[in-house]
Order: sequence, then C-alpha cells, then structure tokens
Amino acid sequence: MMRLSLKQMENKTMEQPAELKFSEHYKRMWPYVKPYWFRALLGILICIPVGALDSVVALALKPYMDDVLVAKNEGSPIYIPLLIIAFTTMQGGLNYLATYLNTWVGTKINQDLKRALFKKLLALPASFYDKHDSGFVIQRFVSDADVSCTGLLDNLKIFISRFFSSLSLVCVLIYNSWQLSIIAIVVLFCALLPLATIRRRIKMTVLKGVVEGSKILTNYNETYAGSKTIKSYNLQQRIYDKFDNTMRTIFKLSIKMVQKTAWMTPMLHVIVSFGIAGVIGYGSYLIVNGQISSGNFVSFITALVLLYTPIKGIGKNFNAVQVSFLAIERVVEILDMKPSIADRPNAKDLKKIGKNIVFENVWFEYNEGTPVLKNINMEVKSGTTVALVGNSGGGKTTVVNLLPRFYDVVKGAIKIDGTDIRDLTLSSLRDKIAVVFQDNFLFSGTIRDNILLGKENATDAEIHNALKMAYLDDFVAGLENGIDTDIGERGALLSGGQRQRLAIARAFIKNAPIVILDEATSALDNKAEAVVQKAIDNLMQDRTVFVIAHRLSTIQNADKIVVINDGEIIEEGKHDALLKIENGAYKALYNAQFKNKEKKAS
Ligand SMILES: Nc1ncnc2c1ncn2[C@@H]1O[C@H](COP(=O)(O)OP(=O)(O)OP(=O)(O)O)[C@@H](O)[C@H]1O
Ligand SMILES: [Mg+2]
Repeated sequence: MMRLSLKQMENKTMEQPAELKFSEHYKRMWPYVKPYWFRALLGILICIPVGALDSVVALALKPYMDDVLVAKNEGSPIYIPLLIIAFTTMQGGLNYLATYLNTWVGTKINQDLKRALFKKLLALPASFYDKHDSGFVIQRFVSDADVSCTGLLDNLKIFISRFFSSLSLVCVLIYNSWQLSIIAIVVLFCALLPLATIRRRIKMTVLKGVVEGSKILTNYNETYAGSKTIKSYNLQQRIYDKFDNTMRTIFKLSIKMVQKTAWMTPMLHVIVSFGIAGVIGYGSYLIVNGQISSGNFVSFITALVLLYTPIKGIGKNFNAVQVSFLAIERVVEILDMKPSIADRPNAKDLKKIGKNIVFENVWFEYNEGTPVLKNINMEVKSGTTVALVGNSGGGKTTVVNLLPRFYDVVKGAIKIDGTDIRDLTLSSLRDKIAVVFQDNFLFSGTIRDNILLGKENATDAEIHNALKMAYLDDFVAGLENGIDTDIGERGALLSGGQRQRLAIARAFIKNAPIVILDEATSALDNKAEAVVQKAIDNLMQDRTVFVIAHRLSTIQNADKIVVINDGEIIEEGKHDALLKIENGAYKALYNAQFKNKEKKAS
C-alpha cells in the first residue's frame, strides 16, 4: 500500500481552507447545538448573573467604607456581611447549575459530532484509507472533535461569565468615579490589543502539533499490530528512536507555543500595573480634593482588581478558544469532504446479473500519472469463471477491486448487463458481490459473529451449512464453545488457514451471484489447500466468479484465463489453447509456477 510520505502528509494537513470568520465557527456548529439550544441557552444565561455577582461585593464596599469606617455610623450597614454571604451562596448554586447544564449539552453535542464524523469515516472510499494512517484518523476524528466541543461550550461559558462580570464591574467603576474609569478602561484596551493577533501566530504551531500527535498514535498502532515483526527484526531501538524523535518535536512545539503565547499574561500584568498605579495616583488627588469619598475609592480599587483578574485570565482562555476554533476548522474540513465514491442522483438498484460483466477500455491509477491498468477489455459471461493470472504487482487485485467500486475507473467503464456500475446504487452492487480477499479482515468476537456479517439474520442451520461448505465444521465441532468461540482481535486466535476458511464461510453465507476470490488459498499448505479448494468449488457453483489463484486446478477449469502483466492483458483463452502458444506468457508462467507444484502435490 502506498502511503504519503510524512512530508507530503504534513503539506496535506497544512493546506487549510481559508480561515473561518469568528461567526462562521458558530454557524457551522449550529446544527449540532440546535437540538439542545434551550438547555445550552439556559446554561449560558446562568453564566451572566454568575459573572455579574462579582460586582456586588465591590459595590457593597462603598457604603460599608463610608458609613462604618469613615462616618462610624452604627447599625445601618449590618446587612452587608449577610448580603455577601447570600450572594456568594447564590453564585455557588448557579455555578453548579451552569456546570451541570453545560456538561449535559456539551457531551450531547460532542457525541453527535463524533457520530457525524464516524458516518463520514464509514463513507470515505478506500483511497482515503490508503492516504491517511490510523493516527491521522484518531487525531482528526476523535481528538479534534473533543477539542472543538470543549472550546465551543466551556470557553463560551467562561467568556460570557467573564464578559458580564467585566461589564458589571465597569459599571461599578463608573458609578464610583468616571475620571478614574477613563484611566482604567484605556489601560484595559491597551492590554487586550495584542490578543487580536494570537490566532494567526499560533495557527502553524497548532497544526504541526496535530500532525506530530497523529504520528504518535500511529506509532502505538504499528507497535501493536507489528509486534512480531518488530521482535523478529530487532527493531525495538529503531521504533523507539522514531517515537523519541516525535516526542522531541512535540516538546519543541509546546515550547514554541509557550513562547508565542505565554508572554501575554506577564505583559497584561505589567500593563495592568500601570493602570493601577495611575488610578492610585490620580485617585489620591481626587480624594484630597474631595471629589470622591474614601468609600468610592476603596470600592473602585476593589472593582478594578476584580476586573483585571479575569482579564488577565482571558489571555489564557483566549488561547484555548483559538486552539479550539482551529480544531473546529479541521472538523469542518472533514465534514465538508465529499466521498468520491457515492451513489449518483439517479442510481438504480442492481437486481440480477443476466448476461455479462464487461470491462470496456478500463484505465486506472492509484496515483496520478502512474497508470496501473491500461486499457483493459474483457467480457465475463454470467455464471462463468474467469481466472486472472500474471506477474506479481501486475494488477490482478486492482482489477477485482474495481468491481465493488473500492476505487472508480479513471477512463472507460465496467458494465453489468450494459449498465455502467457507477449508475447503480453502491449498496445493491456490493450486495451482489462476495469477496474473499488476499488478506481477510476478521472482526473481534465469535465465529458466529463473523459469519453473521455475511448475512445478518442467518439461522443456525445456515451457519452450520456455511461452516460445512468451508470445511470448518470439524474444527468448530472440536471447540468447547463451538461457533460461539471467541477468535480474538483480527482473528488472532485462529491459524492462517482457519482464518481463510472462516472468510470463505462468511462469503458463502452471503450467497451473492458474483464471487471474487483473491488468492483465497494462499495461506494454506497443499493438503489444507485441497480441502479449501473443495470449499471454494462449492462457493463457485452457479455464480460469476473472478478468481486469482496460484493453484492450477482452479485455473485449468476456468471458462477463461486472462493473463495480466504490468497492467495489460497480454493473453486470454482456455488453458489448452493458451498452452499451445509458442513462447506464450501463460506457458512460461505455467512452466515456472504451476507444473512443478502440481507434481509435488500429486
Ligand atoms: N492502494 C494502492 N495505492 C497505490 N498503489 C497501489 C495500491 N495497491 C496496489 N498498488 C500498486 O498497483 C500495482 C498493482 O497492484 P495489484 O495489487 O493489483 O497487483 P497484483 O497483480 O494483485 O499482485 P500480487 O500477485 O502480488 O497480488 C502494483 O504496482 C502496486 O504497487
Ligand atoms: Mg494481488
């Protein structure tokens, strides 16, 4: 399988669509928020009093200061300590409610988004999986969804409560002294200005972080799936080094991120200190001149400190918002992907294969500019068997991959009874095709689970028949739990041949009119192969069969043999006729591959 080099992949990830506008993020996420809008709104509205209640404390300080500390009036402001307790309790209660609602809504939205992404993943064609590794998928479909949702709600909540807290505190400022307020607010704006550029600054770093993060995940996956290869080639050190390298890069990126953003908070502090200094200086002057009371001043300073604290926090919060907005951009990018292989608007259902399957001038390439199939023309009559032979890498698997539309032809067409398969619905087409791959994927679960994949509602009798046809019945009978035996992830607890036979049973129970067998007996020895061959003969009866085989008997009995070398059909015909061609490719293949093998087998 060809994969993009890391460099290419990086470039691919770097090719971002035009940056979304602030409002655009919410617009794109709206369909996911919509079903829960009421709770979401409630959660956000609650944040408003939570934020605004901050100012109550500051406001209460003025009468306290003026009446108690300065005028030394007795009795009147006794309500103030009580008020503070009451308001704080209320704030706490509302805070709890807001957190509860936001988590509820957030989790719902997060899961809906992941559902949508998962659906997209299932719809994406084989070429997507060729080009992106598992780490990419986990990173972009799982982590990005998490990050974007967190950003959307948590940050929105924090932002809103801080905004209203700030707003109400500004009111307290102005109430106490408009002159001092001007100083405070001007300083505030100066402090917030640098935030505007942050997104642009961190974008590249965040993207590189995503690419590196996905490499780490791929590392884990490969170490898991390739554990035996790693051991047998003593690759531990090399794999470790690769991992270590990625870790170092991630470290550098984290530091870069700090360099790009962490100066903001101290800078805010410094700017804020100017503000406070200015206010104290000018405030003292105003008090001395009797323009404001001491209470005003204390209340003002408290409000100012309360105001600057969340503002200082906003630096950090803002950063997180930008990171999550960048994640939303990546999620949107995936949601916007149009699977290149999908039903056409007027696609028809494939009912049956009456006459034939025809490849007409079929050209195909995995990567632009390197044709893998060149002008393939062949007709396979309904109910017959065609055997594909040829050199390794010649394009046999590719030919059969085009039939269920794992990939679409680049030029030409494949037609079933005269209808281009691209004009058929994908599900009806694939419903009619049973494939036994060169490398079959079994799902974790039991033998029964795996056979039921071929036919969801099969009865026990049907399952047992399929096992019998695949010559697995003896094996299954010997198992303590029979067909309910667990086979492990990817069928790890079975032998290679058993895995292949299980795949054959799965294809058998599907009972599809078209059967594709790609080296379905490659993992077997001669004796087992003879057994499986019978299973395959069963599978091939009365069906249109494409068989890629290395076993002579299958090929010999085929109605037609097609020799594909380097992407071109160079010979076709029946076994005997092909053998008669002097210096023929089939003859050479037969002499080199099949003849000796047959002798040994017999
Ligand atoms: N997913 C892919 N992406 C890019 N190139 C591919 C992909 N799959 C196969 N190829 C290339 O296409 C060519 C044909 O491959 P194909 O698997 O069809 O050969 P084959 O005839 O089945 O070989 P074999 O007998 O070894 O199974 C090869 O050169 C291969 O490298
Ligand atoms: Mg192949």
